Amino acid sequence: MQALVYHGPGRKAWEDKAEPALVDDTDAIVRVDAVTICGTDLHILKGDVREVTPGRTLGHEAVGTVEAIGAGVKHVHVGDRVLVSCITACGACRFCREGHYGQCLGGGGWILGHLIDGTQAEYVRVPFADTSTYPVPAGVSDEQVLMLADILPTGYEVGVLNGRVRPGDVVAVVGAGPIGLSVIMGSRLFSPSHIVAIDLADPRLEAAKSVGADVTVNSAREDASEAVGALTGGLGADVTVEAVGVPATFELAARLVRPGGHVANVGVHGEPATLHLEELWIRNVTITTGLVDTYSTPTLLRLISGHELDAGRFVTHRFTLDQFEEAYDVFARPSDTGALKVVLTREG
Ligand SMILES: NC(=O)c1ccc[n+]([C@@H]2O[C@H](COP(=O)([O-])OP(=O)(O)OC[C@H]3O[C@@H](n4cnc5c(N)ncnc54)[C@H](O)[C@@H]3O)[C@@H](O)[C@H]2O)c1
Ligand SMILES: [Zn+2]
Ligand SMILES: [Zn+2]
Repeated sequence: MQALVYHGPGRKAWEDKAEPALVDDTDAIVRVDAVTICGTDLHILKGDVREVTPGRTLGHEAVGTVEAIGAGVKHVHVGDRVLVSCITACGACRFCREGHYGQCLGGGGWILGHLIDGTQAEYVRVPFADTSTYPVPAGVSDEQVLMLADILPTGYEVGVLNGRVRPGDVVAVVGAGPIGLSVIMGSRLFSPSHIVAIDLADPRLEAAKSVGADVTVNSAREDASEAVGALTGGLGADVTVEAVGVPATFELAARLVRPGGHVANVGVHGEPATLHLEELWIRNVTITTGLVDTYSTPTLLRLISGHELDAGRFVTHRFTLDQFEEAYDVFARPSDTGALKVVLTREG
């Protein structure tokens, strides 16, 4: 088969690789029908994720068809259409029993395209298939479901639910990439009074409007504190969400929140950020962090089936699998290409 293989910082190729085989009896082999690229894959290619070693097939998001199952797989059947989620769950460890699948101690967590070969290939081995895949509901497209492999549960769980967005809230989202946009779309489900999107790139702010932000701030030329202050009588936002992953945006999210409000960090940080406890200690602020667990995936699947979430909006570019290198190039240059999510499918 063909797979997108990492060969060390800055190097990758769509190349021949042996088809995956069943290893454990809880495995499934899934034929990849639709797959996408994540910002995290770009971090890996920069060499930022040291656990990813040369020879690794990248990718942790896919929709596909089950080709084979191990003897211990009970609920997934050959021929099923399934969502392969970014988080694998053993289902039995302490954290899985608590729904914290991202922290799985039994060999799951974020492993696809990280610790084991991933989904950017014609076939992928999915461990713990019963607890790590989701049946695709009838009547929804592969593309829509694919957005539930990572970005929508991440935005919803780590941004919206951790941030405790409630009706009438003013929500400020720093960063309007696919994750920030998912936070905005998910926040809408709770009827906030205003959603303020903050980014440096105007095309991203336009996208933010299209998924439900009603106020946008280009923080390269506008003051986010003023914009949020104007909506809140100077108090600050009820909920702020950091969806970039650099110190400046975390510090901005902490500055924009009202006393008693929530700051939900979603961004992956590579450097220390300053926690201004000298200002925050008196403000009753709650700060949360998190890796996505994907416990919300069944809820989100019902929302897309019921047309309450339009997940397909994130897809800006479409390719076939053999165009993987071009797809990476388009995805990596969003300011030139306008890319949010790119989807690759089999030909024909
Ligand atoms: N916690 C998790 O489980 C989880 C899961 C997936 C992704 N993430 C992380 O979420 C973050 C966002 O992911 P993404 O795919 O949307 O990334 P992205 O790079 O596509 O988007 C980031 C956005 O932030 C904007 N930005 C950059 N610097 C800014 C600044 N100083 N002020 C305002 N805006 C700024 C950029 O213009 C861009 O639109 C990343 O750090 C990613 O690694 C976290
Ligand atoms: Zn991802
Ligand atoms: Zn587990």
